[in-house]
Amino acid sequence: MSDKELDLPVPDPGLEEHPPRFTDVDPAAADRSYRQIVAMLAAVPVLVIAFLVVYFAVPRDAELILFGSTFKMQTTLLGLTAGFATLLIGIAAIAWARSLMSDEEIVGERHGAASPPEARERVLADLEIGIDASAIRRRKLLGTGMAGALGMMLLPAVVSLADLGPWPTAEERAKTIEKTIWAEGVRLVTDVTNVPLKATDLVVGQLVNAQPENLEHLEDSAEYQIAKAKASIIVVRMDPNSIKIPESRRDWQVDGILCYSKICTHVGCPISLWEQQTHHLLCPCHQSTFDLGNSGVVVFGPAARSLPQLPITTDAQGYLVARGDFTVPVGPSFFERDSLKDFQEGDR
Ligand code: FES
Repeated sequence: MSDKELDLPVPDPGLEEHPPRFTDVDPAAADRSYRQIVAMLAAVPVLVIAFLVVYFAVPRDAELILFGSTFKMQTTLLGLTAGFATLLIGIAAIAWARSLMSDEEIVGERHGAASPPEARERVLADLEIGIDASAIRRRKLLGTGMAGALGMMLLPAVVSLADLGPWPTAEERAKTIEKTIWAEGVRLVTDVTNVPLKATDLVVGQLVNAQPENLEHLEDSAEYQIAKAKASIIVVRMDPNSIKIPESRRDWQVDGILCYSKICTHVGCPISLWEQQTHHLLCPCHQSTFDLGNSGVVVFGPAARSLPQLPITTDAQGYLVARGDFTVPVGPSFFERDSLKDFQEGDR
């Protein structure tokens, strides 16, 4: 149809003249480009192997001084190798498209949404033409190289999964998430200020944020943070006549002074919103509410189990000390939790 018949406001200028590229007119230039692309793709497996070597061989605490700044050597080298491998794949793909694939402009006429069978056949025929134009049939190494390079890039991703932590076997869990630094005789000290707590320091209705005294001996900051995250506690004093203390926990408290994990058993928020009158402790994240006057059981909200209670007593000087570690894991519930057989009333 002519422009006049189509009633176009501006005449269709048609396609511009197609300028040929060097690689279209000079087979030597096309071969050169082909070799460059293959060389870039061939460098990717080398970089991936370098990534794996760095991952396993370079110590995590080794440092690298560059331009006067200090960097972690392993992280820097992992970034450089994985980054260059990705960059080379990108550059190779662009070079392939710009120099070897066909760049002939084509006009596609609009048509209805549903393609008639002839159109589908035409698409398949065009696809064949496109595959031919991409040079992938004649220069098979390109396709293999690109597929191989992309495949190799999966390796760093898979190997890096090891950084999610050790495999959580029962033994590993017993050493890590099911254990805190609380132990028999460790004093309870105030959070941040590290002042040892005496039973006589607390009045009925009071709540104190606390932590184990041995926390301050940890020098490595990561170890300190992990230990603190698991061992943080709240200490509350309630009138012993107004609370329910199961027989099995009778000697876990000192004159109504009870100690619980500060970490919500839902998804681990720290809690200390304390309602003196009801003895309820409210988690600000999703409103789980625990009854500290009844073994820390859940009275409202999404938490699935009670707040773990730390058994305490006093030492010869009257300071509050732990009787041992928590008897159940602190923090959010996790599916292996039931592997612990020693639940007591109020632990769930
Ligand atoms: S983390 Fe406490 S209720 Fe969700």
